[in-house]
Amino acid sequence: PQIRKFNFKVQYANATRLCRTKSLVTINGQFPGPTMYVREGDTVIVKVQNKVDYNVTIHWHGVRQFLSAWADGPSYVTQCPIQKDHSFTHKFKVVEQRGTLFYHAHVSWLRATVHGAFIMLPKADAVLPYPKPADEHLLYLGEWWNRNVEDVIAESLRVGGAYQPSDALTINGQPGALYNCSLSDTTVFNVVKGKTYLLRIINAAVNFQLYVSVVGHSLTVVEVDAEYTKPYTTNTLVLAPGQTTNVLLTADQEVGQYLISATVFSPPNPIFVPFPQTPTTAILRYEGAKTVLSSPTELALPKFPLFNDSVFAAGFTTSLKGLSTYSSGFDLPLKVDKEMLFTIGYALQVCPTCNVTFLPNPHLRMRTSINNVSFVEPTSASLMEAYYYNISGVYEADFPSDPLYPYNYTGTAPSNPFSVYGTKVKVLEFGESVQIVFQDTSTTFFEGHPIHLHGTNFFVVGEGFGTFDPIKDTPKLNLVDPPSRNTVGVPSGGWAAIRFKAVNPGMWFMHCHFDIHTAWGMSMAFLVKNGHGMNETLPPPPSDLPKC
Ligand code: C2O
Ligand code: CU
Repeated sequence: PQIRKFNFKVQYANATRLCRTKSLVTINGQFPGPTMYVREGDTVIVKVQNKVDYNVTIHWHGVRQFLSAWADGPSYVTQCPIQKDHSFTHKFKVVEQRGTLFYHAHVSWLRATVHGAFIMLPKADAVLPYPKPADEHLLYLGEWWNRNVEDVIAESLRVGGAYQPSDALTINGQPGALYNCSLSDTTVFNVVKGKTYLLRIINAAVNFQLYVSVVGHSLTVVEVDAEYTKPYTTNTLVLAPGQTTNVLLTADQEVGQYLISATVFSPPNPIFVPFPQTPTTAILRYEGAKTVLSSPTELALPKFPLFNDSVFAAGFTTSLKGLSTYSSGFDLPLKVDKEMLFTIGYALQVCPTCNVTFLPNPHLRMRTSINNVSFVEPTSASLMEAYYYNISGVYEADFPSDPLYPYNYTGTAPSNPFSVYGTKVKVLEFGESVQIVFQDTSTTFFEGHPIHLHGTNFFVVGEGFGTFDPIKDTPKLNLVDPPSRNTVGVPSGGWAAIRFKAVNPGMWFMHCHFDIHTAWGMSMAFLVKNGHGMNETLPPPPSDLPKC
């Protein structure tokens, strides 16, 4: 194992997209940020310096942070943000993980431009569960705004929360051939006929689930969220924001150029949620193919499912099966100590000064909630410092295990938009096995929720449409080969069940990975208490942990 050191300077840089140049917040001047390569077992040390006018934190999305919760990074959960001209050094070990993840800013909407790939190579002597590919490519999906993204979200919240669509989808930071002024910057992936490649695909988009497809080529999924899966071959992938997928692609077509493309899956309702209609594209270019594209439409687009085909998406996600079982601590809990039902959905709030044109009553504000609690960030200290130093008044430890308002799914309207506003955490005893059923309650807005948990992967043991029925659905849960993930796409008007074992002490944020929903309050935190051994205890905070 090695020590891998990185210096991250959060700084402004200019970038040109869609015919105009703007200044944006970046890491080391790069957009997307630098790709980090580490190896399983390594110690990672990243010094983050803030040189911009916004408060910043960086989160290592999907990294388990075993016994290193202080390095996790969500603002006001494990740390106060880094203020201008200050720095914070993250230190953590890559424990029993290998695969593709990413890092991103975790404050407001800064992650729209502050992010990059985090690649954990397997141990040098590890045996791969698939044939060794000839080479690999990174396919990094994101969004581009012509405006300053922090202005976009501030303006949205000021008027009650309307969606503000981005101006383009991107692959490796580039919108690709079909967007204005973008043809010559289209990303190119070079391949040689007959060889097989690993594509590491990351959905770093802020508010959209995406379909991904390559013309003429099938894709074999071998890993999701940095855990191996049984091989699954398909023409179209579905990735929620926060999800990562490794696939094998064999260059088995005629020598030539083929479009790789991503487009939006499942906006809630295109009237409420405008989204970029143009797919982002990159080029798969065979060695020996001609290298120029003379017109943006010279190459055919893949045939995607309909933008709202949630049945296709459910078919894709339920086809993914886990491959590995874990060493101690990360095993699939066959029995659970605590069963919880979390309703997730919209929670309209009265706001006399708002003027929300897309809501039936303009004096409502968009809020979202989990179990009818709409999360309010603390300001005086992070949740974890409040726990560690016993500071009262920062949070309440009474997050409910079941919805506050009985859930009655009728299929016609958001059935329980009632909510309380608060900073509540759910306390878990060390070693407890937990099952959570996420029940989407929103039918009017018609959108699923990619729910992301920090500090551990979980097993997705089931999902379905309609209301979860404990008697009918429990026996159908997959306790044989469920995939292990850090982000689960809860289907629109449906449910998903997860299980995990609480063996990593700390304060772990859980939230929807659509940033607009998080901004509206769809988040909460688990406090996993210390165990009794030395290796079961949250260590003291680093001395440079930022102050509020
Ligand atoms: Cu990818 Cu809480 O984040
Ligand atoms: Cu959501």
